[in-house]
Amino acid sequence: MKYKSFGKTGIKVSELIFGTWYLPNHMANGRRQVNKQASIKLIQRAYDLGINFFDTADVYRGVYEREANPPDYERVGTSEKILGEALKGYDRESYVVSTKVMGRTGPLLNNSGANRKHIKKSIQMSLERLKMDYVDFYIIHGPDEDTSIEQTARTMNLLEEEGLILHYGISNHSALDIVRFLNLKYFSALEPPTFIQDKYNLLERELEENNIKIAEDNSLSSMIYSPLAQGVLAGRYLRGDKKDSRLEYEKWFSRKKSDGGNYKGYWLHENNKEALKKFEEIAASKGITMSQLALAWLINRGRYLFPILGATRIEQLEENVESVEVSLSTEEVGRMGQMFKT
Ligand SMILES: NC(=O)c1ccc[n+]([C@@H]2O[C@H](COP(=O)([O-])OP(=O)(O)OC[C@H]3O[C@@H](n4cnc5c(N)ncnc54)[C@H](OP(=O)(O)O)[C@@H]3O)[C@@H](O)[C@H]2O)c1
Repeated sequence: MKYKSFGKTGIKVSELIFGTWYLPNHMANGRRQVNKQASIKLIQRAYDLGINFFDTADVYRGVYEREANPPDYERVGTSEKILGEALKGYDRESYVVSTKVMGRTGPLLNNSGANRKHIKKSIQMSLERLKMDYVDFYIIHGPDEDTSIEQTARTMNLLEEEGLILHYGISNHSALDIVRFLNLKYFSALEPPTFIQDKYNLLERELEENNIKIAEDNSLSSMIYSPLAQGVLAGRYLRGDKKDSRLEYEKWFSRKKSDGGNYKGYWLHENNKEALKKFEEIAASKGITMSQLALAWLINRGRYLFPILGATRIEQLEENVESVEVSLSTEEVGRMGQMFKT
C-alpha cells in the first residue's frame, strides 16, 4: 500500500479507502441479508493489506434498500456496527473512519437533514454503533435545502471543538454549494469543509470540470465513490456474467437513467461497450486487470483523488489493491479519459 496526506489535513491515509455501502450478502428469509462474519473478514483483510481509511454512513445497511416498502429503518446503521466490530482490536491511531449524516434514519419528521438537531443526534448514534469516541471525517451526505449552510457549518465546527469529529466534508453537493461552503471563511469566520466525496469514474465524468476541479484548485481532497462504476469497469458484465452481482439482485441497477435507475442503461450503452473492450485490451497489454487500470487512472490523475473501494469478495479486494502499483504517464491518463468521452 502507499500512503499520502489527506489534502491539507496532514493525516496520512492509504491511497485507497475501503467503503461499506455494500458488504458480502446473501438471500435468506426472502430478503438480502448481510453476512456479518464474511464482512468482518473482508474489512480485516483490507486492514491487513495496508488500507487505513474506512468509509461508512449512518444510513448504510450493508445492502441497498431504497425500494423497501415500508422503508426498513431497523437495519439503519448495520454497516457502522460491523465496521466498529471489525476494527475494535486495532489501535485507534492506526486507522481513520469517515461516516455521514443527512439521509433518513427513521420515520420521525426530524430523522433526516443537515440541521443542528439531527446532526447532534446522528453523531451520537454513529459513535455508539461504531463504539468509538470520535470520527475522523464527518460528511454531509447531500444538500439540505431547508437548512442554511451557515447553520450546518457552525454545527460541524462545534462538533470539531467538542472533539467528536476531527474534520468535516460534503458529498453530492453542487459546484455552487462547494463554493458557498468555501466562502464561509471570508464572510463568517466559519471553518469550511476540508474535503468532498463525489461520484467519479471513467464512465461518469460530469463532475470532472466542476466539483473535482474546484476541490483540486482549493487543495481539498476528493473521496471518489463508485470508482468502478459499480463493477461495470471491472469488465464482467461485458461477458454477460452477472451471477451474484448487484446487476443481478438490484432492480434499479438495470433501469435506464430516465426511469430513475442510473446504471446499466447508461454505463453499459453501446458506445461505452466498444470503449470498454478497447480498455480491456490496454489492461491486458500491461498485464493487469480492468479494475486495476480503472483505479490506477484515478490515482494517477491527481494527488487529491482517493478512490473508495467497494468489494463483496476478498478476491476483488486483493485484485483492486494492486492498482496502487500501476504508474501511468500524464499522456496515458489523458488518452484513456478521451476514450470514454461520449
Ligand atoms: N457519498 C455517497 O453518496 C456514496 C454513494 C455510493 C458509494 N459511496 C461510497 O463509495 C464506496 C464504493 O462505492 P461502490 O461500491 O459503488 O464502488 P465501485 O468500486 O464502483 O463498485 C464496487 C463493486 O464493483 C464490483 N467489483 C469490484 N471489484 C471487482 C473486481 N475486481 N472484479 C469484478 N467486480 C468487481 C463489485 O460488485 P459486486 O458486489 O456486484 O460483485 C463491488 O461491490 C461505498 O462502499 C461507499 O462507501 C458513497
